[in-house]
Amino acid sequence: MQNPVAKQRLIELDVSQPLWDRYFWVAPLVLVGTREPDGGHDVAPKHMAMPMGWQNYFGFVCTPSHHTYSNIKRDAVFTVTYPRPDQLVLTSLAASPRCGEDRKPALSVLPVFPAEKVDGVLVEGGYMHLECELDRIIDGFGVNSLIVGRVVAARVAEDAERIDEIEDQALVHNAPLLAYLHPGRFATIDQSLSFPFPAGMKK
Ligand SMILES: Cc1cc2nc3c(=O)[nH]c(=O)nc-3n(C[C@H](O)[C@H](O)[C@H](O)COP(=O)(O)O)c2cc1C
Repeated sequence: MQNPVAKQRLIELDVSQPLWDRYFWVAPLVLVGTREPDGGHDVAPKHMAMPMGWQNYFGFVCTPSHHTYSNIKRDAVFTVTYPRPDQLVLTSLAASPRCGEDRKPALSVLPVFPAEKVDGVLVEGGYMHLECELDRIIDGFGVNSLIVGRVVAARVAEDAERIDEIEDQALVHNAPLLAYLHPGRFATIDQSLSFPFPAGMKK
């Protein structure tokens, strides 16, 4: 029998150009919070963002031209909120362009509350909140940098916490997740299945 995968035609892509808009890939979408130089706060969406390994480090891709980058370089702290699907529009608005006095007026519609261990804010209604101290910034991935923090405080919403009494499938159904499908699409995940790990697999 012929392998159906062998039949597909592969298109050679030009690796001198960015590849990441040429196909869809699945990413999370988080809101990174920082303190602005005037004492106000900044919140910006990031999809190139995830835990850095099995210990409590969290990293995301940023660029030195963003306030998020300069705020973290100065204060050495940041926060992370995982928004829920019903917060999609507010999440997107946090990427609105700045106007007079370099302010992001759209942030006024984003309800926030103070972080406890670091100087910053978290976004109300998100299902997972992290407070991070800067571990390191690695510059030089083209125009981008990797910002990595050590998590010093974390809080999960009651309906999103994994506990023995609630099946994982029901948990995801009742507290759906927001996925960003780069480029420019999103999905609400409220259905999930157990991953078919091979027998005897070790982490
Ligand atoms: C859905 C979405 C995902 C984004 N992901 C990233 C990202 O992973 N890294 C990044 O540097 N900027 C990302 N951005 C762009 C920044 O959030 C945006 O430029 C923001 O206004 C920067 O704000 P700041 O100057 O206050 O840091 C994303 C924007 C959107 C709408």
